This record gives sequence, C-alpha cells and structure tokens, in this order.
Amino acid sequence: MCGIIGRIGDGDAIDALITGLENLEYRGYDSAGVAVQNGAGIKVQKRSGKVDALKESIERGRLRGELGIGHTRWSTHGPPTDENAHPHTDSTTDVAVVHNGIIENYAALRERLSEAGHEFTSDTDTEVVPHLIQHYLDEGVESEMAFRRAIEQLEGSYAIAAICHGEPVIYAARQGSPLVVGLDGDGYYLASDVPAFLEYTDTVVYLQDGDVAILRSNGLRITDLEGTAVSRDRKTVDWDSEETGKGEFDHYMLKEITEQPTSLAQAIEGRFDAEEGRVHFEEFDRGSFADVDQVLLVACGTSYHAAMYGSVALRRAGVNASAMLANEYSLSAPPVDERTLVVAVTQSGETADTLGALRRANEQGAPTLAVTNVVGSTAAREADERLFIRAGPEIGVAATKTFSSQAVVLTLLAHRIARDATGFSTLGIEEISAELERLPSRVDEVLADSGAEAIARRYPDERSYFFIGRGLGYPVALEGALKFKEITYEHAEGFASGELKHGPLALVTPETPVFAIFTGREDEKTLKNAEEAATRGAPIVAICPDGHQAADVADAQLRIPETHPTLAGLLATVQLQLVSYHAADLLNRAIDKPRNLAKSVTVE
Ligand code: M6R
Repeated sequence: MCGIIGRIGDGDAIDALITGLENLEYRGYDSAGVAVQNGAGIKVQKRSGKVDALKESIERGRLRGELGIGHTRWSTHGPPTDENAHPHTDSTTDVAVVHNGIIENYAALRERLSEAGHEFTSDTDTEVVPHLIQHYLDEGVESEMAFRRAIEQLEGSYAIAAICHGEPVIYAARQGSPLVVGLDGDGYYLASDVPAFLEYTDTVVYLQDGDVAILRSNGLRITDLEGTAVSRDRKTVDWDSEETGKGEFDHYMLKEITEQPTSLAQAIEGRFDAEEGRVHFEEFDRGSFADVDQVLLVACGTSYHAAMYGSVALRRAGVNASAMLANEYSLSAPPVDERTLVVAVTQSGETADTLGALRRANEQGAPTLAVTNVVGSTAAREADERLFIRAGPEIGVAATKTFSSQAVVLTLLAHRIARDATGFSTLGIEEISAELERLPSRVDEVLADSGAEAIARRYPDERSYFFIGRGLGYPVALEGALKFKEITYEHAEGFASGELKHGPLALVTPETPVFAIFTGREDEKTLKNAEEAATRGAPIVAICPDGHQAADVADAQLRIPETHPTLAGLLATVQLQLVSYHAADLLNRAIDKPRNLAKSVTVE
C-alpha cells in the first residue's frame, strides 16, 4: 500500500514522477504528492484525492525540478487530507520524505522531537522522519549520515525516500516494504514497483531489507545501514510497458479478465506434456518433493481462494493438504517440521500478512515455496523455492487473471508433489490433460458469448447476492462473492453449497439471487441445495454447460463450455468476474480502484 516514486537524472523530473504516480495509483489513491528540488529549494505539491487532482494543480503552478520524489497514499495514520498527504517535510522544508509502511514507534519519536521544539502539522507516523533527519542536520551531521541515523531510530516497516535542500541526491531505505531502482542511460528511478517506470526502463535493481541506496544522477551506491557497500544484481524485467496500459478497454479489470486465455497459456506453457500426461517444472528437479508429508498453503484474499483450490487439488492427488489465512497463521501456526511444505500464495509477493506467515514457517524450519507473479518480490526472495505464475502485470485492484493462473499452477503442482511424495497421483492428470491444453480456448469461448451483462442487469440492487459451490466450486464461490462485494459495494457471500441448510438459508428471500456453480462433480447435490434456496423464493443463476439439468431448473444460466470437473471452476470464475464487472459498471463504481482498498497490502 502506498506507492513511492523518485527520479534523478537528465531533464525535468516532473513528468517521470507524475507518470510513476499514475502507474502506482493502484497501490493507494487517498492522496498524491511530489517534492522536487530546483534552484529555489525544495517545492512540495500535494492534494487529497487521486493523482489527477495533483496533476491539475502542478500544471497550474508550473512546478519544475531537477530531481524529486512522489507518493500516492493508502491511509493508515490519519484521514485522507491535504495535510496528511506525502511528501512530509520538517518545519523549514529543508527535508522532504515519502514513506510506505508503518513506523511503530512514531508516537515516542514524535514526543521526543516535540519536546526538542519540532512542530508537527499532520497525523501521520511518517512526519517524524523528516524531523529526525533535520534534527541531525541541525547538529552538523552531513546529510547521508543524518539519513542513516534517522533510519536507525525507526521500528516497523518502511520503504522511505528523502531529499535534502541543496543536495543532488535521493536517499532511500527499505525494511519490510518493497523498493526497486530503475536504471536508464540518463539517470535513475526509484519506486515501490516496476510498472511505475516501465515505460522508461526495464533494467532494475531490487533493494533488500536493511539496504540504504544513495542515488545521484551519475551513480547508484547501495550499502547496509552502517554504510558498508553491498552488491545487488541488475536484472532485466520481461514485462512490457504495453502490457501495463489499459489499451482499448475502459477498465484494467475488463482488460485483465479478457487476457486470461493468454495468461493461462503462459502459466501452463512448457510445464505440461499433454500426450504423456506429465507435469514438468523446470524449477524443480525430479524428486524435489519426495520428503513432503503434508502441504500447508498460506495466503490472503483472492490468493487464499486460489490456495484453497490448490489444497483441494492436492488432497485429490493424494497429499495431505490444507489452506490457511496467512493473517491467522502467526497466532495459531500449526506444528510443522521439515516434512511440511509451506506454500505462500501471493500475486504481489509483498503482502505483509503472507510474508509474516512465510517468515514464521521459515523460523519453524519448514521448507517454503512462494507461488507468485512478481519476480524479485520479497516472497520470491525469502522462500526457499519459488514458482512463478507468469500472468503478466495486474493493475486492477480486483485480482482476476492472477486467480486463474494461481489455481492452474497449483493444480499442476498438486500432481507433481503427489508423484514425488507418494510415487503416484490420484488427480487424474491423464484425463485432465486434453482439457488443460484447451483451457485457454475454452476461456475464449466464455468471453465471446458470456451473457454476464444481461444477468447483471436482471438482478440490480438486491438485498444480498449468494454464491454456492462444492469441492473445487467452493473456493470459486468464495472468490465470486469477494469480487462482487469488492467492486459493487453490494453485500455478497460465498458458501459451500452443503452449508446453506446449516444456517445461511435463514437469510434467503426473493431478494437474494443465488449463483450456483456446477463443476460436473456431485452436481446433483449442489442442485438440491440450489432448489432448497429456490423453494424459499430465491432466484437461481446456474453456472453450467448447456444441456445441464440445472439449466432447466434455474431462473437464469451463465453458460460455460463442457470441460473436466477439475477445470470447470476456472471457467465459472471468468463468468463471475464478468458479472461483478458489469454489475459494478451499471452502478458506476470506481472499478479499478474500489473505495478503501489497495492492490498491494503491505501492512498487517
Ligand atoms: O498480492 P496478494 O495476492 O498477496 O494479495 C492478497 C490480497 O490482498 C488480494 O488477493 C486481494 O484480496 C485482491 N486484490 C482482491 O481482489
């Protein structure tokens, strides 16, 4: 949460800062601001609201600068006001700072600084940082050392960038929140995430926890907190800046839903031999999982639903497996040992809750694996092993294509782990294989003739929306409900279909449409559950192939092509994503930036 951008190099920094903020807006959109340095000193411009508001004010004010830092905010301390917007400065505006994360000891630092005469103007934890730097500058400490000393005082998580009056330098430090440096021929970029500067360069250096970076227009130096040089590799990112644009679409979400034939093809490419029904991951040698007795998947939100999907596939393959919410893991971590594989499922690889669970598992001595979309992310670095879902950049706050890619990669992994660990897999990959190959074209079929918009129009403004499914349909139902509530702001709940009669049925009325997912496995039971809701007056929308008996019984149908039961849930997911999208569009919601949310949740 919160996006940081910095630019130092030839030319005016403003354009790169604004582009960076626009590209990072998915990380938070409560306020935006920049601080630039020019002949007249440090100039700060910031506004509550979206980057557009800031952009207008900058154009009016003709702000220019040789170097600068910027920030887009997801509020943690203090409401989204102009005063709480970053950058924050000391009282003299000699130091400007942007920050992502939480400074846990800010109250004590603020009290100490206030006693020493510093005056604070915001409610944020961040504001202590420029005051701390200023405190050391006032003592005559030179700026790099003043920055280090300030950073040493901080407890909590942070990615921080700072500039000081008269110094042609950007200082940066990271502990627990992501930061990456981009290098082009003319200078350097600093950002929370690569898409911020991808249209300028794809050459990057990922900073690691404990790193301090000193960016000058003609050089980058990285040290630890004490000042000892550390070496970090340059990498080339294989994402294309075209991929991070909206193209012809009104919303990133729709673009990303539509990209699923490609993202799924990329997820399985080279990992699967349809003729032999064999799963092959170049990341893992044969027998890599031979010592695995059980698998524990940890994740949050949509990734948790994908983890549930993976856990069902693992159990069907013959491996003891369960999925757990990452934020619950640290409080009630089950006993694990060197034979428990802990899999952290995280699109961004930066979710604080998931990283917390991953770190806990590392401490417990369990082998760990990160299943993520982002090469170079913290999860990818901190896990013992990593497996990439290759979905390409996802910008919409609502996760769509990454869910289907996570689910399919975890399904392949389930087969592979079972083979290594037990000698055989009962997942039936041989029967799935032909359908797996066809999965991208099946998704194309759904996209070409979805009917989801008509369903969204048919059930506007209901009291609540229910989603039910069993087996692999259950995580799909949960994901359908999460997507619906997060972008429409309407109440929606997902249930295991068998659970309806154990309580939720009391809520069912003619104003609670029930979306029932039929995967082709135990469908008669799901149909019975849907009928129990229909008897209480609920309209039923069946997500099933043509000719399915549910289509006759239901009030409406969302069509999916016939496929293997292990994959049917992924086609149903695409339909449910489209229903949510169209329902939110009819309600004129901020689809790509739903209220109160952010793409990457880097606080616990
Ligand atoms: O980056 P991650 O996959 O770790 O993010 C976890 C959740 O915050 C995320 O899946 C969230 O639930 C989705 N953006 C909702 O659509």
